[in-house]
Amino acid sequence: MKAVKIDRYGGPEEIYVTDVENPTPADQEVLIKVKAAAINPLDWHVLRGTPYFMRALTGVFKPNEKFQTLGADVAGVVEQVGEQVTELKIGDAVFGDIFNFGYGALAEYICVPEEALVLKPENINFEEAAGVPVAALTAYHGINRFGKIKPGSEVLINGASGGVGTFAVQLAKYYGANVTGVCSNRNIDLVKDCGAEDVLDYTEQDVRSQDRKYDLIFDAVGNLSLSDYKNLLTKNGNCAVIGFGGMTHLIGAGLFGGRHIKMVDFKANQQDLQFIADLMESRDLSTVVDRTYSLNQTAEAITYLETSRARGKVIIKIQ
Ligand SMILES: NC(=O)c1ccc[n+]([C@@H]2O[C@H](COP(=O)([O-])OP(=O)(O)OC[C@H]3O[C@@H](n4cnc5c(N)ncnc54)[C@H](OP(=O)(O)O)[C@@H]3O)[C@@H](O)[C@H]2O)c1
Repeated sequence: MKAVKIDRYGGPEEIYVTDVENPTPADQEVLIKVKAAAINPLDWHVLRGTPYFMRALTGVFKPNEKFQTLGADVAGVVEQVGEQVTELKIGDAVFGDIFNFGYGALAEYICVPEEALVLKPENINFEEAAGVPVAALTAYHGINRFGKIKPGSEVLINGASGGVGTFAVQLAKYYGANVTGVCSNRNIDLVKDCGAEDVLDYTEQDVRSQDRKYDLIFDAVGNLSLSDYKNLLTKNGNCAVIGFGGMTHLIGAGLFGGRHIKMVDFKANQQDLQFIADLMESRDLSTVVDRTYSLNQTAEAITYLETSRARGKVIIKIQ
């Protein structure tokens, strides 16, 4: 079977597609024929081995075996089940975030513990499903778990047109918030279509220059300072920081943000993903698919994602 591999840290030129042995599922795993995978900024962080602290996980001098095949988001069909698998069966269409469950979604077949997967709703296709896990779960944790927004809450979403931002806008809307999205001019209609009442074009207006206060800032860019957050928040407002834009800034938020300014951190689990799957099924949440590439075009896809100009999700479709 084909898999997308890297042997050392570097740019997209390090990515190659090669033949590897087909995997065999362990007792608690299922073998999935991958139909689609999505790429996330975390994949190019793995590829480049940056920020350097990530190497404690991915390998100090070169990516360790687990991280030599890229990809955290997967959607596909179960082809074989391990002896202790109880919920899934052959033929089930599934999807999941496998960052903490083996990684390596960019391959024709992968083995995944069944606890990482949920059934794909029938009314969404594999590309839409693949775009969901990492981005939608990040948005869900920032908006709901940490943000605890209520109907009528004022929410600012910075980076509203990206993979995470498009889900964050829809989720904030789902919970009844008044949403202001921040993006550039070309993405205003997209962010409004996702549910934002107001859109701030950052090329025309400095986000920091407004008088308006927010109950939640969801920052998927990371270009605002701690004092910017404090100026833009209501007295008891919260700020969920997810953007890797400025690491010092993220660390600052972690160390000095207090209980109202937090880095979003979570471990993917079936319960949260099932909640998201149900919202997809009811069409309260949809994946905005920007571009679709083939497995052989993964380097090109990552080059595009690294521009930080993606509008929604970048998908790898596997034939
Ligand atoms: N903590 C976590 O668990 C976690 C999980 C997932 C992602 N992340 C991080 O979250 C960030 C966003 O991820 P993503 O998948 O959404 O990335 P993405 O899809 O690459 O984001 C691209 C979007 O960012 C927008 N953007 C770029 N600069 C902007 C600016 N100055 N102001 C407002 N919008 C701007 C772009 O819109 P324009 O073209 O209109 O500028 C584009 O639509 C990344 O840094 C990623 O590493 C963290």
